[in-house]
Amino acid sequence: MAFKVGLLGLGTVGTGTAEILANPAQRHPLLQELEIYRVGVRSLEKPRTVPLASNVLTTDLESIVTDPAVDIVVEVIGGLEPARSLILQAIAHGKHVVTANKAVIARYGDEIFTAATNAGVYVLIEAAVAGGIPVIEPLKQSLCANRLYTVTGIVNGTTNYILTRMQTEGSDFDTVLADAQRLGYAEADPTADVDGFDAADKIAILASLAFGGRIKLPEVHREGIRQITAADIAYADKLGFVIKLLATAQRNVEADETINQPDRLQVRVHPTLLPKTHPLASINGVYNAVLIEGDPIGQVMFFGPGAGSGPTASAVVSDILNIAAILKVERGAAVQPNGQPLLDPLLACSHQH
Ligand code: NDP
Ligand code: HSE
Repeated sequence: MAFKVGLLGLGTVGTGTAEILANPAQRHPLLQELEIYRVGVRSLEKPRTVPLASNVLTTDLESIVTDPAVDIVVEVIGGLEPARSLILQAIAHGKHVVTANKAVIARYGDEIFTAATNAGVYVLIEAAVAGGIPVIEPLKQSLCANRLYTVTGIVNGTTNYILTRMQTEGSDFDTVLADAQRLGYAEADPTADVDGFDAADKIAILASLAFGGRIKLPEVHREGIRQITAADIAYADKLGFVIKLLATAQRNVEADETINQPDRLQVRVHPTLLPKTHPLASINGVYNAVLIEGDPIGQVMFFGPGAGSGPTASAVVSDILNIAAILKVERGAAVQPNGQPLLDPLLACSHQH
């Protein structure tokens, strides 16, 4: 095994991640070179669904991020602390980091990315926004030739699941929220979903990527869905609308180019009446979508499952693989285990058959 992964957290996302790492067949060949070396959890007594050697689990997460043998630390414990400190400690010990933690990145992104730059390590965050949908990398890479105007989307799976079931089944808010928690979509404290904090974190991250600079959370207008009633949804429906919790970052093209001018960029999260013909109106259930507008691309939309174990793990493991591929080239081995060149753009991500 060439690369040792220290996994912090074995809940919804951690379990999905471990399941992919433990089942490499017919996936990317580099998966065979990854080892789940240590896994940090809160309780050693909890039953786990992933088979792990008894010496892999620990409640001492610091011992993982400081272990010289660990190459890549994956933070999926959530919350602000100890997540932020563990990420910073991992970076200080020269580890590359993958995290799904939008709350930490939206608040401490500056500190974390500065530390990573100084340490010469990668911090990848694809899973932090919109679960399994690739949207961070496209904004960082494939769309960077554009002058972007708007990033708008449904970026919280829990609230979209609640609104959809209220609309289609007339279900009661609390019952559907309990279902979203049971399915692993909601945050540990679902207030983060329902009151729009999670969507605010995500749009702050997307806006920072799309428009440059670092968007601070107090600059994001935020309203959740708590006040939306079944009657609101029914009236909207009669008038040809649906209600969606939209997160939007919009650049005022008339305004001055300086990022900090308040009239230049508006970033907001709030329930929105969308005509049923709008491309985001038909995004239902736990699905998310992000619509990006710019010049010369015009409109481009990313769509897919926005939360849940497997979809989020897809993004986490892809980040791990991207880091492993870079490390492999840095260590002088430019071929994958199947002999294909790592840097050939058509073969780099090709799977085993
Ligand atoms: P869970 O609550 O399901 O899992 C958290 C895991 O971290 C558990 O294994 C828990 O241990 C462990 N843990 C939490 N705090 C500590 C601590 N202080 N010390 C040691 N272990 C700890 O969370 P999720 O998997 O749902 O979410 C993880 C992260 O991924 C969050 O940042 C979340 O926002 C993000 N995310 C989640 C998505 C989802 O669909 N759920 C989608 C995209 C991102 P134990 O098992 O012993 O309790
Ligand atoms: N609680 C989040 C959601 C998880 O429902 O979208 C994915 O980030």
